[in-house]
Amino acid sequence: MPVTAFDPSTASARDMEQWRDVLNAMVDADMPGEPRWHGDRMREYLSVTLPGERRLAFAARDADGTITGHANLLLFGGEFDDTAIFEIFVRPSERGRGIGLELLETVVRRAADEGRETVGVEVIATTPAVGFYDRLGFKRAVVENRNLLAMSEVDWPRVRDISGRLAAGYRLEYFTGGLPEGLLPRYASTKAHLKVDGDGDSTAWRGSADAVRLRESLSTLANRGMRTHLVVALSEPGEAVVGLTELVVAAQRPTRGDQYDTVVAPTHRGYGLGLAMKARLLCELADAEPRLLDVQTWTAQEGDPHEHADVELGFRNDVAWYEYEADVAELLRRLA
Ligand SMILES: CC(C)(COP(=O)(O)OP(=O)(O)OC[C@H]1O[C@@H](n2cnc3c(N)ncnc32)[C@H](O)[C@@H]1OP(=O)(O)O)[C@@H](O)C(=O)NCCC(=O)NCCS
Repeated sequence: MPVTAFDPSTASARDMEQWRDVLNAMVDADMPGEPRWHGDRMREYLSVTLPGERRLAFAARDADGTITGHANLLLFGGEFDDTAIFEIFVRPSERGRGIGLELLETVVRRAADEGRETVGVEVIATTPAVGFYDRLGFKRAVVENRNLLAMSEVDWPRVRDISGRLAAGYRLEYFTGGLPEGLLPRYASTKAHLKVDGDGDSTAWRGSADAVRLRESLSTLANRGMRTHLVVALSEPGEAVVGLTELVVAAQRPTRGDQYDTVVAPTHRGYGLGLAMKARLLCELADAEPRLLDVQTWTAQEGDPHEHADVELGFRNDVAWYEYEADVAELLRRLA
């Protein structure tokens, strides 16, 4: 059966169950230590996007109509409308029959039709996806370490102590689900520091650095079933936002916390704010997310400014993650 478009907002309950089942069969086969997917809010997870973005989904089925694999393609808007990212998952028992390739062709043709020049895909280094994308000429644009911290292994007295160690003139505040309106512009302008690296060069960061976009981004996460936990560092007097750290727990995988952005404004670096904010966040999570088993972060393989804080808090380097990228025109030639 050919690959067809899949609309998560109108799909049957059976289709949604099979979609999730493919994900969990993949987890069991390729990464048994990773959390399994829950059915909660899966439709929203797949269909809700930021304004200006679209996520398209596709399913491969066997002759009986059972889903054997699926893909989704996220088309960015605005300044990133020349690129897209995708995911492909094939049920382990159905692999080696050309389904992965068929899903990839569907996704890449659609990306080309939408005027995208490049596509990207995130892959865990120990999974078969690596061989698949290497063979197709994808390049590793970013290689990062994924770090894990089990909540049961946190040294709580030490972490509580770190969270309270603040230089004079600073204080931390915790928010969940969103931010007070008055804080949004200050928070967004601190996030804008993520657009440049330590040497002043532009980064590939695609986050929200203005108040309107930030508000949209926080509500998009909530509408996808993802709870945000935010710790903000404020400097007194004036209440300037000088640092922030963000973590998300998805209803679809409620035992796992994903560390999102952490940034300290350049003139406030070197005072331990990054470490204190992350320590405070862990303390808040212990109360706010009783089902949480672990937290994951990603750091560059060399010289990542967050590595020190992660090590101090007990994170352990776990596995490499690759962000693969390919030129769409070149990939289409290869696939032909
Ligand atoms: C990667 C994946 C999609 C491949 O699906 P598949 O249906 O088995 O792939 P296909 O049968 O279409 O294989 C296409 C070609 O790639 C090759 N290939 C597939 N997996 C490969 C691997 N691990 N290493 C090397 N080559 C591989 C096949 O041999 C085939 O080559 P051929 O055309 O010369 O015969 C599947 O293994 C999968 O779902 N893995 C988990 C996905 C995952 O981790 N996703 C995370 C981020 S998206």
